[in-house]
Amino acid sequence: MISVIAVYPGSFDPVTNGHLDLIERGSKIFERLYVAVLRNQDKDPMFEIDERLDMLRQATSAWPNVEIDAFNGLLADYARDKQARVILRGIRAVSDYEYELQMALMNRKLEPQVETVFMLPAEAYSFLSSRLVREVARFGGSLRGLVPPAVEERLRKKFR
Ligand code: PNS
Repeated sequence: MISVIAVYPGSFDPVTNGHLDLIERGSKIFERLYVAVLRNQDKDPMFEIDERLDMLRQATSAWPNVEIDAFNGLLADYARDKQARVILRGIRAVSDYEYELQMALMNRKLEPQVETVFMLPAEAYSFLSSRLVREVARFGGSLRGLVPPAVEERLRKKFR
């Protein structure tokens, strides 16, 4: 394990097994990994910030060097405050690349000391996104194996 602090930012609305796969991979490499949920987003989220933090805390409790947190404003400022040298992001497919490239280069412009590191989730999750999870849940489809059971339960309650 390298003595580098990393930040894994996102909306996590809700956390999926793809996110958790990446968190586990990151926790094995970095000394400390902050999973940082963006608080004030333009998007209208399905889950309130506290619910998203709760689900993440529950799902990551086995990894002691993972800390769940929320942030406001610029990610580059948050990373600097946490003395993080790395922003961790997942890339599932080529279609993710353009958006991720823009974000990584903007974050580098804002904070040149922080490097964006991309990791690949397990192939089994390469099609998975929070948006699809919300859509499947809305129409009552099964999410077994795609989100933690506690997340599936909360989704089911939303649409009951
Ligand atoms: O899971 P998402 O929605 O793809 O995550 C996007 C996120 C939260 C990482 C991104 O929107 C973000 O970092 N927002 C904070 C505002 C910011 O720093 N913007 C400038 C850099 S692109």
